[in-house]
Amino acid sequence: FAFTPANQAWAEAQILKYPEGRQASAIIPLLWRAQEQEGWLSRPAIEHVASMLDMAYIRALEVATFYFMFQLQPVGSVAHVQICGTLSCMICGAEDLVGLCKERIAPNAHDLSADGKFSWEEVECLGSCANAPMAQIGKDYYEDLTVESLAHILDELAAGRVPTPGPQNGRFAAEPKSGLT
Ligand code: FES
Repeated sequence: FAFTPANQAWAEAQILKYPEGRQASAIIPLLWRAQEQEGWLSRPAIEHVASMLDMAYIRALEVATFYFMFQLQPVGSVAHVQICGTLSCMICGAEDLVGLCKERIAPNAHDLSADGKFSWEEVECLGSCANAPMAQIGKDYYEDLTVESLAHILDELAAGRVPTPGPQNGRFAAEPKSGLT
């Protein structure tokens, strides 16, 4: 693994933001940039970032495995679907959304779909509990999901279209009834 020249220059600039001896503090932005470049974080990518920060590989791996925004396996070329499986979403139907992912994408989390376009996983609370159940797809939140609306989103993405993120049930589309201005 090697950063592109532009990413290498960007990474070096990030490291300079931290005091001498504290370069390891740049670990998250550098890992993120490596993932943006490759689509996921391979061992060589993590090793490269670790060496730039004068860290042991295992310490960089500890960070990469702690946050679920880091992907340690290849993800779908179109989208990686992260279904929130924490309390509010679970109560409101997350299991059914996971069932759809197993059926439509792959039986096991992190496996690629047969066409390589999609992958999925269940993650912990994404902070959008009032709009449960929800999923992060790519970098967008899709909320108030049903099996039907998630299936439609996957169809749209597979067809090369980007569905409108946010609540999928129109809950914010109605005119306010309170008369407040
Ligand atoms: Fe799903 Fe918080 S429980 S977003």
